[in-house]
Amino acid sequence: AVIGVDLGTSAVKVLLVDETGATLATGSTAYPLQQPKPGYSEQDPEDWIRSVKAAIIALGKKPEADLSQVAGLSFSGQMHGLVLLSAAMRPLRPAILWNDTRTTAEVNQINQTMGKRFIEITRNRALEGFTLPKLLWVQKHEPENFAAAKMFLLPKDYVRYRMTGVAGIDYSDAAGTVMLDEDKRRWSPAILATFNIPASLCPPLIEATDCVGTLDPEFAAAVGLPKTVKVFGGGADNACGAVGAGVLHPDQLLLSIGTSGVVLTYEPDSKTTYNGKLHYFDHVVPGQHYSMGVTLAAGHSLNWFKKTFAPDEDFATLVASAAASRPGANGLLFTPYLVGERTPYADAKIRGSFIGIDSRQTRADFVRAVIEGITFSFRDVLAVYQDSGRTFKSAITIGGGSQSPLWLQIQADILNLKIVSLKNNQGPGIGAAMIAAVGLGWFASFEACAKQFVEEKATYVPDRKQVERYTRYYKLYHDVYPATWPITA
Ligand code: XUL
Repeated sequence: AVIGVDLGTSAVKVLLVDETGATLATGSTAYPLQQPKPGYSEQDPEDWIRSVKAAIIALGKKPEADLSQVAGLSFSGQMHGLVLLSAAMRPLRPAILWNDTRTTAEVNQINQTMGKRFIEITRNRALEGFTLPKLLWVQKHEPENFAAAKMFLLPKDYVRYRMTGVAGIDYSDAAGTVMLDEDKRRWSPAILATFNIPASLCPPLIEATDCVGTLDPEFAAAVGLPKTVKVFGGGADNACGAVGAGVLHPDQLLLSIGTSGVVLTYEPDSKTTYNGKLHYFDHVVPGQHYSMGVTLAAGHSLNWFKKTFAPDEDFATLVASAAASRPGANGLLFTPYLVGERTPYADAKIRGSFIGIDSRQTRADFVRAVIEGITFSFRDVLAVYQDSGRTFKSAITIGGGSQSPLWLQIQADILNLKIVSLKNNQGPGIGAAMIAAVGLGWFASFEACAKQFVEEKATYVPDRKQVERYTRYYKLYHDVYPATWPITA
């Protein structure tokens, strides 16, 4: 068997998966998010280590799990987070996460100094969430930490380092630092020189499927795994989510609803660029790429709503309650910009809104409006693809939004796409397990592995009438951003 470690934003989930792709057992441990100032989002890397250990130990206690049979392990990780390490390879400060938006000044600095050349090198425009602006923030605001830093790693790379003693970063996460020269597949000397970043800070580059070694014997003993377990690089959660859903062709689209929401596709041509409008990153499939647009607060919006207005209800019941409302939520419209928005606006300052509140509305209308608003934000990303000539007939949905038949139908109707849900709905964790399976040589390719591991569950077809209705509401949704940004800017 193999283990997929999915290091998320709110929790780590570990999956034990066999050769047939069946998930034998899972374990999960949550950790806190620190928001010491508005726009800040940090985590203590030590919490990840403790939680990964606890989750593997919990996994081992499941009657279905025999950890002595584990041959390989790999990772899916929350992207972009900066873990800055001392000479002793321990964190100098809390990790600054992907959804931290303190770095607008540094993003402007990057744009002003490098302009279009930056997009030519990295295929991306600089955004607050990416790693380079975070590094520049530390350089400016905490020069003592910057001077003391020996290396930076991304979250799952730090966990891998602690499990094996070997430091490295895989290409999919390296691309998300926006310091990678996409053509040459190396750290960009131009970017490093322009921003005075010592090359020695950048970790060695590896492929997702590279074996970095075996488990550190102490770590293995602490969690009950054999010390012979081979550890593979792993990759960015969205890349792992894509392979885990079998999205390995340019005509396939992935919708993923976690804390953030993602619309993603496979990119066959390494020269493609959306002029920075979409993210364009290296894949966990060696040498390949994917592009995506990101909604910062997808599941996060629903989570906020639940915490604030329905703390005692579980998610499934809350989402199902939206059935008592109607398409269009009886006139209520929600924009999910609770922490700013990435695609298509790249605007860290915009905030969300409920518009059209009526005294006849109920909580069901509010739940429905939140679900529809998140889904409208996906349509915004789809529109960027369509404007650049890409067409899709269907999409595979993973994550929280794929649990509810109601929400899946709303996706079909708002996006006017056939929506497919999957049987093995473990999200990026299954992609992490697939990396280990391919790395071990169980399969010759990710395609072969996906044939074995990925199975469709149900299909939702757009309803013509609702598509028309939602197209009208989407136009209204689209008008909210330009009308509200002057208030929040
Ligand atoms: C992608 C992004 C998020 C995180 C979530 O660019 O920032 O989707 O990967 O972990």
